[in-house]
Amino acid sequence: MKIITRISQMQRWALKHRSQGIGFVPTMGALHDGHLSLVRACRKENRFCVASIFVNPSQFGPGEDLKNYPRTFSADKALLLKEKVDILFYPGAREMYPDGFQTEVRVKELAHGLCGACRPVHFTGVAAVVAKLFNIVQPSRAYFGAKDYQQAVVIKRMAQDLNFPIGIRVLDTVREKDGLAMSSRNKYLSRPERMKAPLIYLSMLYAQELLRDGIKDARKLKEAVGEFLRPFVAKIDYIELVCPENLRPVATIGRVSLLAIACYIGKTRLIDNITLTLPAGRQAFFPLPRRGREVRGDGEGT
Ligand code: PAF
Repeated sequence: MKIITRISQMQRWALKHRSQGIGFVPTMGALHDGHLSLVRACRKENRFCVASIFVNPSQFGPGEDLKNYPRTFSADKALLLKEKVDILFYPGAREMYPDGFQTEVRVKELAHGLCGACRPVHFTGVAAVVAKLFNIVQPSRAYFGAKDYQQAVVIKRMAQDLNFPIGIRVLDTVREKDGLAMSSRNKYLSRPERMKAPLIYLSMLYAQELLRDGIKDARKLKEAVGEFLRPFVAKIDYIELVCPENLRPVATIGRVSLLAIACYIGKTRLIDNITLTLPAGRQAFFPLPRRGREVRGDGEGT
């Protein structure tokens, strides 16, 4: 595995190899099995696999956890080496945002609700850095996790609107055995907090059960999930039921709706989501992680 820190060198390599097919997994490091599932899919589906590690300052708002965001480069490097990644792109902040940088990439409506409502600069920062990374790495496919569902939808829209010829592949959330969605931020949780954290997933399965019992009214479902979660969490940013394609809130559960939650366990903000389906299928209490849920990309990723 080659480590590249310079944009010019990365771009030179990419322009030379892109005709053979480059797959790309952008990350902010602190890698876990969720990231590795993306890397494995990327490895399998492309001639070359490029991963990036860059903790992108522009997607953190004032008072958010940029300074404390877990940085575990040596461990990350070892994991990527083991997964036979071809190139690790690892630029510094000044390399990505030199003096004079001014450009914004703003996706409008899709970035306004859910996390966008609580983190107003977040998706503008994500869209800009991902657009830059796409231009630098020149992938034909890029891989994202469904835990960050809104991010995936925003990136897919951005890629389509700006004509990036890139298939956006969105793979299922990978969960711990107790249902907690894997996230780099789980590292912040104390032991008692870690024990509470799976309740987020349980609350969503509870909603699925209520739906199976015939409750289709979104307000009632959100209230029930809120009542379930409230005793265990420090704060709920949102519990929302939306259309999975346009992310607009729904009043009644349609054939498929997305239930999305953001809440604080202690000081740690965690997000998760599941699709609620009608007619609701029976689910085991801790279903095995399903694979392959994807947001469709342009002619790719289906
Ligand atoms: O999901 C992440 O890790 C980040 O938001 C991303 C896509 C790498 C952009 O910084």
